[in-house]
Amino acid sequence: MSMAIRPKTFAVQNVEHPLHLERKDRTVRPATRKDDLDTPAVVIDRHVLDTNIAEMARFAADHHLKLRPHVKAHKSPDIARRQIDAGAVGITVAKIGEAEVMAAAGVRDIFVANEIVTPTKVDRLLALSPKTRLAVAVDNAANLPLLDRSARATGTKLGVLIEVDAGLHRCGVPDAGAALELARLVATFAHLELRGIFTHAGQVYGASSPSEVAEIGRHEGTLMVSIAEILRSEGLPVDEVSVGSTPTAKTAGAVTGVTEIRPGNYVFHDAIQVGLGVVPEARCSLRVLATVISRPAADRVVLDAGSKTLGLDRGAHGTSVVQGFGRILGWPGLRLERLSEEHGVAITAPDTAGSPLPRLGDTVEIIPNHACVVANLARALAVIEGDRVTDRWPVAASGRSD
Ligand SMILES: Cc1ncc(COP(=O)(O)O)c(C=O)c1O
Repeated sequence: MSMAIRPKTFAVQNVEHPLHLERKDRTVRPATRKDDLDTPAVVIDRHVLDTNIAEMARFAADHHLKLRPHVKAHKSPDIARRQIDAGAVGITVAKIGEAEVMAAAGVRDIFVANEIVTPTKVDRLLALSPKTRLAVAVDNAANLPLLDRSARATGTKLGVLIEVDAGLHRCGVPDAGAALELARLVATFAHLELRGIFTHAGQVYGASSPSEVAEIGRHEGTLMVSIAEILRSEGLPVDEVSVGSTPTAKTAGAVTGVTEIRPGNYVFHDAIQVGLGVVPEARCSLRVLATVISRPAADRVVLDAGSKTLGLDRGAHGTSVVQGFGRILGWPGLRLERLSEEHGVAITAPDTAGSPLPRLGDTVEIIPNHACVVANLARALAVIEGDRVTDRWPVAASGRSD
């Protein structure tokens, strides 16, 4: 009898039920060398990341601008902390879920650059208010009573920035007249504090040359400054004139009268930024490591990174500057042509037929088209310095689109 029980007990103790697997996964010791990382892996070059953070912080300081980075790019409290340590006044988020994660990690100044129009979400936002200075986007008068009511119930004044459409044609009031009308209304609510105006000229991602990028940035800045002046001339307080994307931060930010820039992607950069001429490849801090898992034809290399790692993004807002689904570094003749969920299919370009290709089991390094999407899909970012893995940063707000 006892003979029958013992092996059974032994088997139960070792069974890998889901909780057991989860616990094992979290305690796995991280690889200490880049070459030992299991793939697909999302790696961050710490030196390049810090260069990107420092360079934008220096630009902001030199131009007497506040820097309020958009953390939807990385969703990582570790990176937000580095941005704040480098001089950022606070952060921008798109989602309340992101705000909750960042507030829990100790960020004390958060601007939600998005319209929040349901009671549940407004209450969640204001629940952060005791410890956090908050502001939210508005572009519609119908949103104001809800925001005011919730702020009053929380015993706080909620900061408000009016969103202006500077050409993206997403959210935002269309012109100075509409901004003025909305600003006047905001000023009538006791628990709302008009802080200023903001825009995001995301249409820049459809630009086809660096001069077009610069032109869109200058337009973004001058439009916003002219609207701010109109509002001020009517006695309305406009402390913040907030602009920016990664491609336009420096041109819009250089316009006199702009007070704040909100780039996000700049911490990583990616194939889209390279294609737009914003930075060279060397300034891309985020890379995806993938392994060659199949070589089924002479012109085809199959990788273990597909759309669930790299994203299907070929750029928002009409981007035309990328080819395929990422740049495979060191293999210029290979184009990442197709992705399925867990496979990336790279094909040799016709004019490179016969040139050497990575072999089965080789690791390749990819600069993704859109790094923000890649970070959101990852559970953690492996931090590398040279060939060493020195840290592992959880993407604590990944998937927090709530
Ligand atoms: C409102 C707003 N501000 C700032 C940014 C940051 O732009 P980028 O990621 O180009 O740096 C975005 C990006 O989507 C945005 O939507």
